[in-house]
Amino acid sequence: MKKYLEDHWQNVYDKKNENEVSWYQKSPKLSLEFVKSLNLSLDAEIIDIGAGESRLVDNLLEMGFVNLSVLDISSKSIEKTKKRLGLKSKLVNWIVSDINNFNPTKKYDLWHDRAAFHFLKDSVEIDNYVKLVKSSLHNQGNLIIATFSENGPLKCSGLEVSRYSENSISDLFNNDFELIKSQKSIHKTPFSTSQEFLFSKFKKK
Ligand SMILES: C[S@@+](CC[C@H](N)C(=O)[O-])C[C@H]1O[C@@H](n2cnc3c(N)ncnc32)[C@H](O)[C@@H]1O
Repeated sequence: MKKYLEDHWQNVYDKKNENEVSWYQKSPKLSLEFVKSLNLSLDAEIIDIGAGESRLVDNLLEMGFVNLSVLDISSKSIEKTKKRLGLKSKLVNWIVSDINNFNPTKKYDLWHDRAAFHFLKDSVEIDNYVKLVKSSLHNQGNLIIATFSENGPLKCSGLEVSRYSENSISDLFNNDFELIKSQKSIHKTPFSTSQEFLFSKFKKK
């Protein structure tokens, strides 16, 4: 794990409340729309990568999913989400890991990532992430990935990000995944600024 990255994110979740970070969403509406469109069975294995304090897991529990995993580099963010969920937190598999070092012990039906993958800037790390998604998903498994679009900000949480267009993200996953849908979405931050995201849904070939 890169210590400075872990320290960065621990510090963010230590200092800021849930709604004091630019990526805060009261409800992860578009992610939920994309998940619902997949018609997954309730025992589908789902992982949220770089989940932070996202309320996606609350919503998925509410919908009745029973095999949920949540991963983040920051143990602090996971503690906060567990606390919010109370007893329901026992129903979730919590993973503290840098995505660059993640060694999954099972395969997933859905891999969801909103605004974590785009922090990868190094082409080797980006390639490794693509390989990891491929090896971690069942055949016909699903990937929902949201990054800043080509019009999005250059930085998030003070760190430089990679921005993607529909073409560049589909080129990246093209070998092993079919792009099913992509959609731009304007995110209004709690500071009343706007950020353009690109949500993409892929199926493993
Ligand atoms: C911009 S936030 C997005 C949080 C959440 N996905 C959401 O939509 O609200 C990025 C998250 O990715 C996590 N993260 C950043 N780099 C990571 C890495 N290399 N491995 C795992 N998690 C990482 C951070 O701790 C943070 O929670």
